[in-house]
Amino acid sequence: MLREPDVLSMLMRRTPGYSLAQEFYCDPGVFQVDMDQIWYRDWVFAIPSCEIPKTGDFVVYDLGVYSVVIVRGSDGKIRAFHNSCRHRGSVLCKSKKGSNPKLVCPYHQWTYELDGSLLWARDMGPDFDASKHGLKPVHCENLSGMVYICVADQAPPIEEFAAQTARYLAPHDLENSKIAYESTIVENGNWKLVWENNRECYHCAGNHPSLCRTFPEDPRAIGNDESGEMAELSKKHFDKCEAAGAPSAYLISELGDWRFVRTPLLGSGESYTLDGKVAVTIPNSNLPFRDAGSLLKFRYPATWNHFLSDHILLFRITPISPTETEVCTKWIVHKDAEEGRDYDLKRLTEVWIDTNDEDKEVVENNQRGIISPAYEPGPYSETHEGGLIQFSDWYADTLIRGITGVSKIAAE
Ligand code: FES
Ligand SMILES: [Fe+2]
Repeated sequence: MLREPDVLSMLMRRTPGYSLAQEFYCDPGVFQVDMDQIWYRDWVFAIPSCEIPKTGDFVVYDLGVYSVVIVRGSDGKIRAFHNSCRHRGSVLCKSKKGSNPKLVCPYHQWTYELDGSLLWARDMGPDFDASKHGLKPVHCENLSGMVYICVADQAPPIEEFAAQTARYLAPHDLENSKIAYESTIVENGNWKLVWENNRECYHCAGNHPSLCRTFPEDPRAIGNDESGEMAELSKKHFDKCEAAGAPSAYLISELGDWRFVRTPLLGSGESYTLDGKVAVTIPNSNLPFRDAGSLLKFRYPATWNHFLSDHILLFRITPISPTETEVCTKWIVHKDAEEGRDYDLKRLTEVWIDTNDEDKEVVENNQRGIISPAYEPGPYSETHEGGLIQFSDWYADTLIRGITGVSKIAAE
């Protein structure tokens, strides 16, 4: 099995601007290094805060070998804990989501408060110190309605990302929203292939007939041309939105781990529907016009999002094995919007349900072709696949930095 030194030397030999070597998409050793150096170290988007609106509501998020329970306390604060009882380690919350006034272990009923402190443990003797047996916390930040966790002992800085999230998401009211629909699919492809597919629209015309009605394929519409040039239409759109108080211009972090840009949709497109009109009549934004386009946000390694004038789409990916990735999609509408009255569920969801299925197909085809011994890394299109050049540079730099402690990007 490949280990960190092997992965490091393979990264050093990599040709930038080309897809990665086969091992990066298939090998269990590389997968383990990905988990250790990226997924178990970085901030990972878990859930929208509106998924647990009330005290005691919880969601369990499984990330590799970790299981994390995310729960809303009686003080309204959202916290995350390792889903492992401090008695003999049983999973504490067995169901994926629910609501409980306390967290009670199913094994011997040790009972924890929603803030993780141990409240009750039967017959543990006079010397037992409950205060030493609270649930182990997981770093948890609720950023404008998106809950991120980090399972590392020490979490990397998140302040700059938090500040920009607050700024860009300000017109969108994710906190006062609800999940209208969610889908979870497993794509038989490495998590990096899911990202690579997400970061380009070179494949859109040939694969996404319904998305192409509204989403611009032009890479310059969203800053995906390697030259960095933006389309005139996009620049005008940024100006219009920013004049209305909605931060919109392309912004990418120094390490390349997150980006925001508010792209216009095609023509007079308002939302991702087949007719291009809004899908929800009670919007969850305060944008003064419907054709505000889509605020595209990504935050490696786990999430990309679309913030529209009428609803929000949150995507979360979770690696399962070297060749399997879970993709969870949530369609989020204003909490007062009623199905059948303010939105039609089919109209709201059909474009991205189709698009997800189409993406699953192309990602799986990509994985199958890469498994062949005949595969060799191929060139990315600088015109269309600037996003992949960016992604693979971020990936390589993050692993190199994690393994050696030295960042190539930061040194440039
Ligand atoms: S393992 Fe949880 S109460 Fe025993
Ligand atoms: Fe796609």
